[in-house]
Amino acid sequence: MISEGKTKKVEDLGSEVILHFKDDITAGDGAKHDVLEKKGTICSEITSRLMKYLNEKGVHTMFLEYLPPNKIRAKKLKMIPLEVIVRFKKAGSFIRRYGGNEGEELPAPLVEFTYKNDQLHDPLMCVEHLEVLGITNREIALKIIEEAKKAGIHLKEFFEKHGLELWDMKFEFGIDENGQVCLGDEISPDTMRLRKSGEIFDKDIYRRDLGNPLEKYEVVLNLCQSISL
Ligand code: CDP
Repeated sequence: MISEGKTKKVEDLGSEVILHFKDDITAGDGAKHDVLEKKGTICSEITSRLMKYLNEKGVHTMFLEYLPPNKIRAKKLKMIPLEVIVRFKKAGSFIRRYGGNEGEELPAPLVEFTYKNDQLHDPLMCVEHLEVLGITNREIALKIIEEAKKAGIHLKEFFEKHGLELWDMKFEFGIDENGQVCLGDEISPDTMRLRKSGEIFDKDIYRRDLGNPLEKYEVVLNLCQSISL
């Protein structure tokens, strides 16, 4: 059984899944779309290595095995339809909603929930919305906040060691067969803002029509190759 999203296909093997990373890149709720050769390979390897790193730091992730060139074998999760954003610096939709300047440090790491729904343009949600609308319960929501911060802080430290600033990132969580909150989906320059004194290493290159982003994605991949698989 296969289901297909904008950038990945999911093959259901029962208690496990195989995620196929496609070469597609999209922005603006799917309004902008292109196919970039090798993107699936680059993003699946980066995701594999970063999830391996997080597993070793005690963060539960779906990751089981990298299947080159563009697949990941993973635990099957019951996904929660939320985009969980962790921010260290102000950018993007944070500035559109709350003001401030790009790159300004937040006084503390911030976790935001948005409902994964392109038609509604991923509305921001409070824990109360999650409970009342039956998306998830308070206990799981609070656990997600804790795990997202922990994962974000470990990733920030990793990139800092390699000379890059991690400004923000998006995670998706699910529940595994033991009831454990577990990190799923993808962690790549498609889902993070990575900067080095004004230089962009993430999907903002594509969002802002600044050329083919894969050259910079490869730099990120090279850093991640310090994490063994
Ligand atoms: O990208 P935009 O300014 O619309 O959204 P944001 O809320 O500022 O995005 C915060 C972080 O989450 C960025 O690193 C985005 O790349 C990532 N994100 C994502 O991966 N997928 C989304 N649907 C929305 C945000």
